[in-house]
Amino acid sequence: MDIKEVITTRKSTRTYRDEAITADARENLEAYMAQVTSPFDIKTRFALIDAERAGLQGERLGTYGVITGAKNYIAAITEKAERYEENLGYAFEQIILYATSLGLDTCWLGGTFQRAAVARVLDLKDNEVLPIISPVGYAKDSRSLIDSLFVKISSSYNRKDWSELFFEDRLGNPLEKGRAGHYAEVLDMVRLAPSASNKQPWRIVKCGDMFHFYLCRTPWYRRILRFDLQRLDMGIAMCHFDLMAHARGLTGKWVDKNPGLPTDKHTQYLITYAP
Ligand SMILES: Cc1cc2nc3c(=O)[nH]c(=O)nc-3n(C[C@H](O)[C@H](O)[C@H](O)COP(=O)(O)O)c2cc1C
Repeated sequence: MDIKEVITTRKSTRTYRDEAITADARENLEAYMAQVTSPFDIKTRFALIDAERAGLQGERLGTYGVITGAKNYIAAITEKAERYEENLGYAFEQIILYATSLGLDTCWLGGTFQRAAVARVLDLKDNEVLPIISPVGYAKDSRSLIDSLFVKISSSYNRKDWSELFFEDRLGNPLEKGRAGHYAEVLDMVRLAPSASNKQPWRIVKCGDMFHFYLCRTPWYRRILRFDLQRLDMGIAMCHFDLMAHARGLTGKWVDKNPGLPTDKHTQYLITYAP
Protein backbone atom coordinates (compact mmCIF):
# COMPACT_ATOMS: atom_id res chain seq x y z
CA MET A 1 0.00 0.00 0.00
CA ASP A 2 1.13 3.53 -0.77
CA ILE A 3 1.77 5.57 2.42
CA LYS A 4 -0.95 8.07 1.52
CA GLU A 5 -3.45 5.22 1.25
CA VAL A 6 -2.31 3.80 4.61
CA ILE A 7 -2.61 7.18 6.38
CA THR A 8 -6.07 7.81 4.95
CA THR A 9 -7.23 4.28 5.82
CA ARG A 10 -6.13 4.31 9.50
CA LYS A 11 -8.72 5.17 12.10
CA SER A 12 -9.11 4.27 15.76
CA THR A 13 -11.03 1.06 16.38
CA ARG A 14 -12.30 0.25 19.87
CA THR A 15 -14.71 -2.59 19.03
CA TYR A 16 -13.01 -5.81 17.87
CA ARG A 17 -14.03 -9.26 16.75
CA ASP A 18 -13.23 -11.93 19.34
CA GLU A 19 -10.24 -13.19 17.33
CA ALA A 20 -6.49 -13.30 17.78
CA ILE A 21 -4.42 -11.96 14.90
CA THR A 22 -3.20 -14.59 12.42
CA ALA A 23 0.20 -16.26 12.79
CA ASP A 24 1.36 -14.50 9.60
CA ALA A 25 0.29 -11.09 10.90
CA ARG A 26 2.01 -11.77 14.21
CA GLU A 27 5.25 -12.77 12.50
CA ASN A 28 5.27 -9.72 10.20
CA LEU A 29 4.40 -7.34 13.01
CA GLU A 30 7.07 -8.71 15.34
CA ALA A 31 9.72 -8.52 12.61
CA TYR A 32 8.75 -4.90 11.89
CA MET A 33 8.66 -3.91 15.56
CA ALA A 34 12.17 -5.29 16.07
CA GLN A 35 13.69 -2.95 13.46
CA VAL A 36 11.50 0.17 13.53
CA THR A 37 13.43 3.45 13.36
CA SER A 38 13.07 6.67 15.34
CA PRO A 39 14.55 10.17 14.98
CA PHE A 40 16.58 10.33 18.19
CA ASP A 41 19.06 8.00 19.82
CA ILE A 42 16.77 6.79 22.63
CA LYS A 43 16.16 3.13 23.36
CA THR A 44 12.64 1.88 22.67
CA ARG A 45 11.19 -1.62 22.60
CA PHE A 46 7.81 -2.98 21.58
CA ALA A 47 6.02 -6.09 22.76
CA LEU A 48 3.10 -7.97 21.26
CA ILE A 49 0.93 -9.18 24.13
CA ASP A 50 -1.49 -12.07 24.06
CA ALA A 51 -4.01 -10.66 26.55
CA GLU A 52 -5.42 -14.02 27.66
CA ARG A 53 -2.07 -15.68 28.17
CA ALA A 54 -0.79 -12.65 30.08
CA GLY A 55 -3.88 -12.70 32.32
CA LEU A 56 -4.90 -9.27 31.03
CA GLN A 57 -8.41 -9.77 29.75
CA GLY A 58 -11.28 -7.40 30.46
CA GLU A 59 -11.16 -5.56 33.74
CA ARG A 60 -7.56 -6.57 34.51
CA LEU A 61 -6.39 -4.58 31.50
CA GLY A 62 -8.63 -1.80 32.69
CA THR A 63 -9.75 -0.45 29.35
CA TYR A 64 -12.95 0.48 31.23
CA GLY A 65 -15.21 -0.98 28.54
CA VAL A 66 -13.67 1.33 25.94
CA ILE A 67 -11.95 -1.52 24.10
CA THR A 68 -13.95 -4.70 23.55
CA GLY A 69 -13.05 -8.02 21.94
CA ALA A 70 -9.33 -7.45 21.25
CA LYS A 71 -7.08 -10.43 22.00
CA ASN A 72 -3.76 -8.79 21.21
CA TYR A 73 -2.07 -5.55 22.25
CA ILE A 74 1.15 -3.80 21.28
CA ALA A 75 2.95 -2.13 24.17
CA ALA A 76 5.45 0.71 23.66
CA ILE A 77 8.29 0.91 26.16
CA THR A 78 10.94 3.60 26.18
CA GLU A 79 13.95 4.74 28.09
CA LYS A 80 13.14 8.06 29.77
CA ALA A 81 15.50 10.54 28.11
CA GLU A 82 15.26 14.07 26.65
CA ARG A 83 12.70 14.01 23.76
CA TYR A 84 11.52 10.46 24.52
CA GLU A 85 7.91 11.46 23.87
CA GLU A 86 8.46 12.65 20.28
CA ASN A 87 10.80 9.74 19.65
CA LEU A 88 8.26 7.16 20.84
CA GLY A 89 5.34 8.87 19.09
CA TYR A 90 7.28 8.68 15.82
CA ALA A 91 8.29 5.02 16.23
CA PHE A 92 4.91 3.79 17.46
CA GLU A 93 3.00 5.53 14.66
CA GLN A 94 5.17 3.70 12.13
CA ILE A 95 4.10 0.43 13.77
CA ILE A 96 0.45 1.52 13.75
CA LEU A 97 0.68 2.38 10.05
CA TYR A 98 2.46 -0.87 9.27
CA ALA A 99 -0.31 -2.78 11.10
CA THR A 100 -2.86 -0.81 9.03
CA SER A 101 -1.08 -1.88 5.83
CA LEU A 102 -1.48 -5.51 6.97
CA GLY A 103 -5.25 -4.99 7.26
CA LEU A 104 -5.18 -4.79 11.06
CA ASP A 105 -7.08 -2.29 13.20
CA THR A 106 -5.59 -0.36 16.13
CA CYS A 107 -6.21 2.44 18.62
CA TRP A 108 -3.58 4.50 20.45
CA LEU A 109 -4.32 4.25 24.20
CA GLY A 110 -2.62 6.69 26.53
CA GLY A 111 -5.30 7.08 29.14
CA THR A 112 -7.89 4.33 29.15
CA PHE A 113 -5.86 1.36 30.42
CA GLN A 114 -4.33 0.09 33.68
CA ARG A 115 -0.68 0.95 33.16
CA ALA A 116 0.55 -0.91 36.24
CA ALA A 117 -1.14 -4.18 35.23
CA VAL A 118 0.45 -4.13 31.77
CA ALA A 119 3.85 -3.00 33.08
CA ARG A 120 3.87 -6.03 35.42
CA VAL A 121 3.93 -8.51 32.52
CA LEU A 122 6.61 -6.57 30.64
CA ASP A 123 9.36 -6.57 33.22
CA LEU A 124 10.16 -2.83 32.98
CA LYS A 125 13.70 -1.78 33.87
CA ASP A 126 14.47 1.10 36.23
CA ASN A 127 14.71 3.81 33.59
CA GLU A 128 11.89 2.48 31.39
CA VAL A 129 8.31 3.76 31.09
CA LEU A 130 5.19 2.53 29.31
CA PRO A 131 3.31 5.55 27.96
CA ILE A 132 1.18 3.82 25.30
CA ILE A 133 -0.43 0.57 24.22
CA SER A 134 -2.72 -0.29 21.32
CA PRO A 135 -5.11 -3.14 20.75
CA VAL A 136 -4.46 -4.85 17.43
CA GLY A 137 -7.03 -7.01 15.68
CA TYR A 138 -10.01 -6.94 13.39
CA ALA A 139 -12.80 -4.37 13.67
CA LYS A 140 -16.35 -5.56 14.29
CA ASP A 141 -18.86 -4.33 11.73
CA SER A 142 -20.51 -1.96 14.18
CA ARG A 143 -19.03 0.09 17.01
CA SER A 144 -20.00 -0.44 20.65
CA LEU A 145 -21.93 2.37 22.33
CA ILE A 146 -18.83 3.61 24.23
CA ASP A 147 -16.75 3.48 21.04
CA SER A 148 -19.38 5.57 19.21
CA LEU A 149 -19.44 8.02 22.12
CA PHE A 150 -15.65 8.42 21.99
CA VAL A 151 -15.80 9.12 18.26
CA LYS A 152 -18.55 11.66 18.81
CA ILE A 153 -16.99 13.46 21.79
CA SER A 154 -13.58 13.71 20.10
CA SER A 155 -15.11 14.58 16.69
CA SER A 156 -12.72 11.92 15.46
CA TYR A 157 -13.74 12.19 11.82
CA ASN A 158 -12.95 15.91 11.71
CA ARG A 159 -9.69 17.80 11.51
CA LYS A 160 -8.91 21.50 11.95
CA ASP A 161 -8.63 23.59 8.77
CA TRP A 162 -5.27 24.11 7.13
CA SER A 163 -5.44 27.77 8.13
CA GLU A 164 -5.46 26.80 11.83
CA LEU A 165 -2.49 24.43 11.57
CA PHE A 166 -0.01 25.63 8.95
CA PHE A 167 1.54 29.10 8.75
CA GLU A 168 4.09 31.13 6.83
CA ASP A 169 6.84 33.20 8.48
CA ARG A 170 4.91 33.59 11.75
CA LEU A 171 2.21 31.84 13.77
CA GLY A 172 -1.24 33.19 12.89
CA ASN A 173 -0.36 33.91 9.25
CA PRO A 174 -1.99 31.01 7.33
CA LEU A 175 0.15 29.25 4.72
CA GLU A 176 -1.58 29.24 1.35
CA LYS A 177 -1.60 25.71 0.00
CA GLY A 178 -0.21 26.90 -3.33
CA ARG A 179 2.86 28.31 -1.56
CA ALA A 180 3.68 24.99 0.11
CA GLY A 181 4.92 23.50 -3.18
CA HIS A 182 5.63 19.76 -3.01
CA TYR A 183 5.06 19.93 0.75
CA ALA A 184 1.31 20.63 0.37
CA GLU A 185 0.64 16.89 0.13
CA VAL A 186 3.03 16.24 3.03
CA LEU A 187 1.14 18.70 5.26
CA ASP A 188 -2.17 17.15 4.16
CA MET A 189 -0.94 13.86 5.64
CA VAL A 190 0.16 15.57 8.89
CA ARG A 191 -3.36 16.95 9.18
CA LEU A 192 -4.82 13.42 9.17
CA ALA A 193 -2.62 12.24 12.05
CA PRO A 194 -4.27 10.80 15.16
CA SER A 195 -3.83 12.79 18.38
CA ALA A 196 -4.90 12.39 21.99
CA SER A 197 -8.61 13.34 22.23
CA ASN A 198 -8.21 14.58 18.64
CA LYS A 199 -6.80 17.89 19.97
CA GLN A 200 -4.41 18.24 16.97
CA PRO A 201 -1.82 20.29 18.84
CA TRP A 202 0.61 20.52 15.91
CA ARG A 203 1.37 23.95 14.42
CA ILE A 204 3.89 24.21 11.61
CA VAL A 205 5.47 27.45 10.38
CA LYS A 206 7.18 27.50 6.99
CA CYS A 207 10.05 29.99 6.89
CA GLY A 208 11.84 29.83 3.55
CA ASP A 209 12.49 26.13 3.00
CA MET A 210 12.39 25.22 6.72
CA PHE A 211 9.39 23.85 8.60
CA HIS A 212 9.31 24.76 12.29
CA PHE A 213 7.15 22.49 14.48
CA TYR A 214 5.32 24.03 17.46
CA LEU A 215 3.21 22.39 20.14
CA CYS A 216 0.02 24.27 21.00
CA ARG A 217 -1.04 22.79 24.33
CA THR A 218 -4.56 22.21 25.56
CA PRO A 219 -4.12 23.96 28.95
CA TRP A 220 -5.64 21.40 31.36
CA TYR A 221 -4.52 18.32 29.47
CA ARG A 222 -1.07 17.73 30.87
CA ARG A 223 -2.24 17.87 34.48
CA ILE A 224 -4.74 15.01 34.26
CA LEU A 225 -2.40 12.44 32.72
CA ARG A 226 0.91 10.98 33.82
CA PHE A 227 2.50 11.33 30.42
CA ASP A 228 2.87 14.30 28.14
CA LEU A 229 0.63 12.81 25.46
CA GLN A 230 0.67 15.98 23.39
CA ARG A 231 4.40 15.56 22.83
CA LEU A 232 3.68 12.03 21.62
CA ASP A 233 1.22 13.69 19.21
CA MET A 234 4.12 15.83 17.94
CA GLY A 235 6.15 12.68 17.26
CA ILE A 236 3.21 11.28 15.27
CA ALA A 237 3.09 14.48 13.19
CA MET A 238 6.87 14.23 12.55
CA CYS A 239 6.38 10.62 11.46
CA HIS A 240 3.63 11.48 8.94
CA PHE A 241 5.71 14.41 7.63
CA ASP A 242 8.82 12.25 7.15
CA LEU A 243 7.06 9.25 5.61
CA MET A 244 5.11 11.35 3.10
CA ALA A 245 8.11 13.54 2.23
CA HIS A 246 10.24 10.45 1.71
CA ALA A 247 7.57 8.82 -0.47
CA ARG A 248 7.69 11.90 -2.73
CA GLY A 249 11.50 11.88 -2.92
CA LEU A 250 11.93 14.85 -0.55
CA THR A 251 14.68 14.52 2.02
CA GLY A 252 15.54 16.49 5.11
CA LYS A 253 16.67 16.21 8.68
CA TRP A 254 15.41 17.16 12.14
CA VAL A 255 17.38 20.01 13.68
CA ASP A 256 17.04 22.23 16.72
CA LYS A 257 16.83 25.68 15.04
CA ASN A 258 14.39 27.82 16.98
CA PRO A 259 13.59 30.86 14.78
CA GLY A 260 12.51 32.80 17.88
CA LEU A 261 9.05 33.66 16.56
CA PRO A 262 6.54 35.22 18.98
CA THR A 263 4.17 32.61 20.51
CA ASP A 264 1.25 32.71 22.93
CA LYS A 265 1.66 31.20 26.41
CA HIS A 266 0.29 27.80 25.39
CA THR A 267 2.55 27.36 22.36
CA GLN A 268 6.16 26.21 22.40
CA TYR A 269 8.80 25.56 19.74
CA LEU A 270 9.89 21.92 19.46
CA ILE A 271 11.89 21.10 16.35
CA THR A 272 12.62 22.02 12.73
CA TYR A 273 12.57 20.01 9.51
CA ALA A 274 15.38 21.25 7.29
CA PRO A 275 15.46 20.02 3.66
C1 LIG B 1 -1.26 9.86 22.17
C2 LIG B 1 -2.67 9.37 21.99
C3 LIG B 1 -3.39 8.89 23.08
C4 LIG B 1 -4.69 8.40 22.92
N1 LIG B 1 -5.34 7.86 24.00
C5 LIG B 1 -6.58 7.32 23.84
C6 LIG B 1 -7.22 6.68 24.93
O1 LIG B 1 -6.69 6.60 26.06
N2 LIG B 1 -8.44 6.11 24.72
C7 LIG B 1 -9.06 6.14 23.49
O2 LIG B 1 -10.14 5.58 23.36
N3 LIG B 1 -8.47 6.77 22.42
C8 LIG B 1 -7.26 7.34 22.56
N4 LIG B 1 -6.62 7.94 21.49
C9 LIG B 1 -7.26 7.96 20.15
C10 LIG B 1 -7.78 9.37 19.76
O3 LIG B 1 -8.96 9.65 20.47
C11 LIG B 1 -8.01 9.39 18.22
O4 LIG B 1 -6.79 9.19 17.58
C12 LIG B 1 -8.61 10.73 17.75
O5 LIG B 1 -9.90 10.91 18.29
C13 LIG B 1 -8.71 10.80 16.22
O6 LIG B 1 -9.50 9.73 15.73
P1 LIG B 1 -8.91 8.68 14.68
O7 LIG B 1 -7.71 8.01 15.32
O8 LIG B 1 -10.03 7.71 14.42
O9 LIG B 1 -8.50 9.44 13.43
C14 LIG B 1 -5.32 8.44 21.63
C15 LIG B 1 -4.60 8.94 20.54
C16 LIG B 1 -3.29 9.38 20.71
C17 LIG B 1 -2.54 9.88 19.52
